[in-house]
Amino acid sequence: MARLIIVSNRVAVPAEGKDAVSAGGLAVAVKEAFSSYEGLWFGWSGNIRDNPSLEPELIDRGPIQYAVLDLSPQDHREYYAGFANRALWPIMHYRIGLGTFSRSDYAGYQRVNQSFARALAKLVEPDDLIWVHDYHLLPLASELRGQGIANPIGYFHHIPWPAADVFNTLPASNELLRAMADYDLIGLQTDADVQNLSRNFIDTMRAIPLGGGALMVDGRRTRIRSFPIGIDVASFKEAADKAGSNKVVRETMAGLRTRKLLIGVDRLDYSKGVPERMEAVDRFFASNPDQRGNVVYIQITPKSRSEVPEYEQLSREVNEKVGDINGTLGEPAWTPIQYVTKAYPRPVLAGLYRAARVGLVTPMRDGMNLVAKEYVVAQSEEDPGVLVLSKFAGAARQLPEALLVNPYDRFEVAEAIRQALYMPRAERLERWKPMADRMLREDVDWWARSYMAELESFRTVEREPPRA
Ligand code: G6P
Repeated sequence: MARLIIVSNRVAVPAEGKDAVSAGGLAVAVKEAFSSYEGLWFGWSGNIRDNPSLEPELIDRGPIQYAVLDLSPQDHREYYAGFANRALWPIMHYRIGLGTFSRSDYAGYQRVNQSFARALAKLVEPDDLIWVHDYHLLPLASELRGQGIANPIGYFHHIPWPAADVFNTLPASNELLRAMADYDLIGLQTDADVQNLSRNFIDTMRAIPLGGGALMVDGRRTRIRSFPIGIDVASFKEAADKAGSNKVVRETMAGLRTRKLLIGVDRLDYSKGVPERMEAVDRFFASNPDQRGNVVYIQITPKSRSEVPEYEQLSREVNEKVGDINGTLGEPAWTPIQYVTKAYPRPVLAGLYRAARVGLVTPMRDGMNLVAKEYVVAQSEEDPGVLVLSKFAGAARQLPEALLVNPYDRFEVAEAIRQALYMPRAERLERWKPMADRMLREDVDWWARSYMAELESFRTVEREPPRA
């Protein structure tokens, strides 16, 4: 069997004694990609340590081998918390004002990509395919080529690719684009992202379009295509079907009594629009006073990237907003917003989605958003709930039957909540069915197979010797 090497910043190494990859976004996707290959998953161990070893720790768990590196405190600060999450993340999500560029962070980002490439190059065999994931590793192929690696190397960008004028505000933008041309295949979530990145290459790098998504960039050939990521529909649906017996789900439903449930589940991230959504819910109760006491909004928001100042600030903002709204609207017997920062296992989430009449997925900008897909898949035909979805989430392109909203307009979101709560079953079913069918067809297996089929086609490409 041929070997596939997956590279990502985070690596979900299963606990000792277990060979199953743990559930959750990239881990589920990676498991699918590995199903027809021998697998090696390479990346950061999650540990921060003084003077970390340059040789990765090799861990065998069932069919997949893991190779992980520790980061020094400086690497972690500059590469992860700095350049990846204070410069690339906000800019990719159209938040230029939140972007902080520092030369030392950028140097740290390049240094970590280089040391990943050096460590990985020693493990690569001639028949391996290499698939790199996400914005932490934009220059990795270029560094690998510099180490003499001629294997096919693909990249998948899980987050949005913004308009060229937005990306070009990043001082390192041209250098990063030039480095990305060393990938054979660049996968993005939507056709809009493909257009943005292609235009970026054409306008700023004078790339020449060769047809079929291929571009000649600075003497190198790369191909850009969209592959919208999906979810593991069968297992998520099964979890939702069985969730009635789960303690957290049962207690939550008992606590609701006859009240209808609105649900939001997001990492605590400014791209997710959590405070804006709370304002929309507040607006909904202001214009529908008869619904006070009848509707509860549960927002589950595990903390994320707390070492980054913008995330700390957001955490304070959300706490304040929840306090304000609950304090002003709430009654001793009714709390409008139940805000939880714990992370719940997927079966619990599946059950809460099933119980919720309305799924609120209103990011200000999102590459795809898998919560929207999970909410749809968790619904039952007997009594499907309604998805209120931001038109700025990649998922909106595959879920046009949802109530699509502009998350910047709290009046529009409040009105969509009202419409969702009053929607008759026939209309709920009419909207839900085509979405559920599409999620089943375009699931994570379909995503991984289509990407890998395309990456396989680069096996026979003769590559120029790497440039100095
Ligand atoms: C997004 C990114 C992933 C990232 C995840 C969690 O989904 O696309 O690459 O792993 O957020 O963020 P964290 O910084 O905790 O890895």
